[in-house]
This record gives sequence, structure tokens and C-alpha cells, in this order.
Amino acid sequence: MARLYGRVAVISGGALGMGLAHAKALAKEGAKIVIADINEEAGAAAVAELGSKGTEAVFVRLDVTSEESWSEAVNRAVKAFSKVDILVNNAGIYLSGTVENTSLDVWERTMAVNVRGVFLGSKTVIPHMRAAGGGSIINICSNWGIVAFPDAAAYVASKGAVRLLTKATASEVAKDNIRVNSVHPSFTITNMTKDLVNEPETVKALVGPSLLGRPARAEEIASTVVFLASDESSFMTGSELVVDGGYTAV
Ligand SMILES: NC(=O)c1ccc[n+]([C@@H]2O[C@H](COP(=O)([O-])OP(=O)(O)OC[C@H]3O[C@@H](n4cnc5c(N)ncnc54)[C@H](O)[C@@H]3O)[C@@H](O)[C@H]2O)c1
Repeated sequence: MARLYGRVAVISGGALGMGLAHAKALAKEGAKIVIADINEEAGAAAVAELGSKGTEAVFVRLDVTSEESWSEAVNRAVKAFSKVDILVNNAGIYLSGTVENTSLDVWERTMAVNVRGVFLGSKTVIPHMRAAGGGSIINICSNWGIVAFPDAAAYVASKGAVRLLTKATASEVAKDNIRVNSVHPSFTITNMTKDLVNEPETVKALVGPSLLGRPARAEEIASTVVFLASDESSFMTGSELVVDGGYTAV
């Protein structure tokens, strides 16, 4: 039997990049998929692709920065599939800048998507999970939520916040049989980074001290999301699953 048969997964930012890889990997294990994204065209294409492989999937428009949008998206997900078992808080943006040259606008936008988005997603979904008897929330964080990187001040700060927000949330909902964990990928080839792979110096800098010495494929992160979504990780909550090719090991 597929590991996630009958489970319902909402993936924020699931239309493209790593989010789409999570959706495909969860679907492969039998989950029904809700692609929740601001990009309607890519969302529709993602749902069509999943549907062509036999997955029950719907697209809901979501702007993770808006509480109203989260409420509408989750209500639509519950209407479509009766419940939500898995939430992948994946949507995120990266805007470069040092502490000195980051504008307030860039700071606020980064925090709105990367931190407020995770907060609102969890806040909205938890009552539904509680009513259904439990669930698994997976927050996509970063190696740069554990260690810093120059010229990424807002991003690093946002991911640091997600790291601890994960533990705060876990501490509150363990009694409801809801597990909350963070995943910490390093440089991964996605829509966000696809243009960078043609810049050898940038790749070298982003791969950094990684022991495996290469960027990740999105599927290599998605497989850990499947693990955290499944009962195989039943004793994990408030944990950080570091998937960084050894970046933070040395
Ligand atoms: N790619 C990497 O190297 C890398 C490394 C570590 C962590 N991450 C994290 O992984 C996650 C996914 O990143 P990615 O590389 O796949 O990015 P991506 O840019 O390829 O895809 C991001 C997705 O999020 C959606 N999105 C953006 N803003 C949104 C909003 N306000 N509301 C709803 N959806 C929105 C986009 O439409 C897109 O579908 C992010 O949280 C990112 O910080 C990425």
C-alpha cells in the first residue's frame, strides 16, 4: 500500500520548483494534492500534469501573505477532499541584500512571504487537522536558517524565524496529534535558481563548503518531505531535517 494513501496534502507554492516536486512525490505515495499558489497558470499546469498520472489534484489560488486568502484556500481544499492531513509550507522568496543595503520594502516582503506565510498557513490549517484527529506540518526552511550567508540578510533572518516558529508550533499542537517539523535544504535547482546554474562562480559560492559538492535536485528534498508526511516519522516533531549535502557539517 502506498505510504500516503487517502491523505490530503496542501502545498503552498506548489505550482513550480521544489513545491511541485513535493506535490509529485506525495502524489506518488497516494496523497490527494492541493496545489496552493499565487501563480494560476503554473498551478493549472501542475494539476493537469498530476491528473494525467491519475492523481486527484486541485488548484487553489493562494497568496500566503493574506489571512483571508489562506482561509479561502483551505476552505476550498476541505470542500474538495473533506480534510487536510498534510501541510507543506513551501512558498518562499529570495531577495538579496546586506543589512546595510536591504530596503525596508525588501525586508517586509521577505518576512511577509517567508515568515507570515508559514504562520498563517499553520494557523489556518491546525483547526482542521485537530478536527480530523491529527496531521503533519512541514515547513521548508533552509541551511541559511541555521548558518548565515553574506548578502542575504532578510532571507537568512526569515529562515531563522521559521526554524524556531516550527518548534513553537510543535510545542502547542503535539497534544492534538499534529507533528511540525522543518526541512533545511541547501542550494537546489528550481525555478528560483535555474538561471544561476550557468554561472560557475555563483554555483561555487552557493555550494560552498558542502561535502557532496553540488546543488541538490528538487526530488532529493521532496523525498524527505514524504518521510515527514508519513507515519515513518511518527516520533519526530519540532525537529530540523537538514538536507544540505553536508553544508552545515563542516
Ligand atoms: N532553491 C533553493 O536553492 C532553496 C534552498 C533552500 C530553501 N529553499 C526554499 O524552498 C522553498 C521553495 O523554493 P523554490 O526554490 O522552489 O522557489 P521557486 O521560486 O522555484 O518557487 C516558489 C513558488 O512559490 C510561489 N509563491 C511565491 N510567492 C507566493 C505567495 N505570496 N503566495 C503563494 N505562492 C507564492 C511561486 O509562485 C512558486 O510557485 C522556499 O521556501 C525557499 O526559500 C530553496
